[in-house]
Amino acid sequence: MAMSFYVTTPIYYVNAQPHLGHAYTTIAADVLARHMRQRGADVFFLTGTDEHGEPVADAARAQGLEPQQLADRNAARFQALMPQLSISNDFFIRTSDAQHKAKVQEVLQRVYDNGHVYKGLYEGWYCPRCADFKVENEILEGNRCPIHEIELTRESEENYFFRLSAFQPKLEQLYAERPDFVVPARHYNEASAFIAQGLQDISLSRARLSWGVPVPWDPTHVFYVWFDALLNYYTALSYARPGEDLTGRYWPATFHIIGKDILKFHTIFWPALLIAADLPVPEHVFVHGFLLGADGRKMSKSLGNVLDPFEVMQQFGTDALRFYLLRDVAFGGDGAVGMDAVTARYDAELANEYGNLASRTLAMIARYRDGAVPSVATDPALLAEFAELPREVAEMLDRAEATQALELIWQRVRRLNRYVEERAPWQLAREPSEADQLDQTLASLHEGVRALTVLLHPYIPGATDTLLVACGAPARDYGAAAFAAAGSGARVHTIAPLFPKRDR
Ligand code: MSP
Repeated sequence: MAMSFYVTTPIYYVNAQPHLGHAYTTIAADVLARHMRQRGADVFFLTGTDEHGEPVADAARAQGLEPQQLADRNAARFQALMPQLSISNDFFIRTSDAQHKAKVQEVLQRVYDNGHVYKGLYEGWYCPRCADFKVENEILEGNRCPIHEIELTRESEENYFFRLSAFQPKLEQLYAERPDFVVPARHYNEASAFIAQGLQDISLSRARLSWGVPVPWDPTHVFYVWFDALLNYYTALSYARPGEDLTGRYWPATFHIIGKDILKFHTIFWPALLIAADLPVPEHVFVHGFLLGADGRKMSKSLGNVLDPFEVMQQFGTDALRFYLLRDVAFGGDGAVGMDAVTARYDAELANEYGNLASRTLAMIARYRDGAVPSVATDPALLAEFAELPREVAEMLDRAEATQALELIWQRVRRLNRYVEERAPWQLAREPSEADQLDQTLASLHEGVRALTVLLHPYIPGATDTLLVACGAPARDYGAAAFAAAGSGARVHTIAPLFPKRDR
């Protein structure tokens, strides 16, 4: 039976429109999903929208709308974004879905029945943008939110509490047993340190808000939005396919991909909640960094350093946006992004190193061999340099190291460019006595381009599909990523440049 692989993105707040940060997390998750499908895994890939809570209720009020109206409007924008980014998600969850709400109630009722909930008075500093009560050491000077830098409000209300403190030993055990529960390692360390400081119980419900999932044992409360939101990863499986429950097939999740700002929720609250509900915890939480403005500062409209994903796609195409984000910023760390860097990567790498390599290879096979790839042995030296690549890429992507894997592939793209220069097929073509050499060169180039294109498929799905067809070898399962010992005899056809030079 195929190995199951379940990957998720955070669900996006519908109080704002999609921006680059949302595109980033989603593209990265898509790369993993596509790669694992190539390897024959039984993949489920989930994304969606987070629609309840104060941030949405406040934004709706400010626009004179009902929360559901704002949610419908913006959820549609996120849904429309997915095909634009070539995202291959299997389902799009909305937390206002009736089935999600019913399942949230079922799971949290169990947490309540298991004795992990009590009623108490909450007083603390609260950020309405995060929908989060901040603990002492998170608060910036002047009682400000460490993320939004806005002033926190002092809130006090009667709440149901989740007994998080009681889960300290279980979480310590989880972290001790599974050093790859949170990756990269510095975020594992950050989460461990948070636990080591001692955990406080957290608010599970809000009494003053009505835009949320009602608490079944006390409908005057709704659940605190983060509990409702986190549970999406679990609830979606129960209704994503009508008439089928996929929970047994995919739970626990293989990878939750998240940004570092939501680490505490995913690496502490979430496993504790799952344990409290008698459910298995996910295998890995992968934490990525922030995309910063080209000036290295946090992107913000007022600083004018925002990179607009729609503008990048319009000028360079979807594949270029996907490639750029995973190539220019090491996935897992922070990095500056901007239009100049997009242009530089596009011109130097996509248009020249890859696109041009592909066009030249096809054109030479068309010109010198009438479009037929010579059925001769490929160059043993190249064969050796490519032999370990699919395995190495797979190992990196097993750890969600999407940038490192792409770098390995790209080293071979550069290798093939050097190969063209070393072998100078246009010179070989002038000497009838070099016909065997030319055959070997063309077969090797074709095989190299084809095998790399299979590996590049998760990153740039559009261009790679076009190119594989032009290579006369459309297969893109992982077996097809192996560099073969013999030319295939396939028939190629030439194509317009995959990444055309643009008018500036
Ligand atoms: N709704 C919550 C997540 C709930 S998951 C159960 C949320 N939504 S969000 O829309 O604000 O952010 C979603 C994701 O986008 C987060 O992972 C966040 O890190 C990411 N990004 C938002 N801005 C970003 C950058 N500038 N750079 C990289 N990613 C950032 O949080």
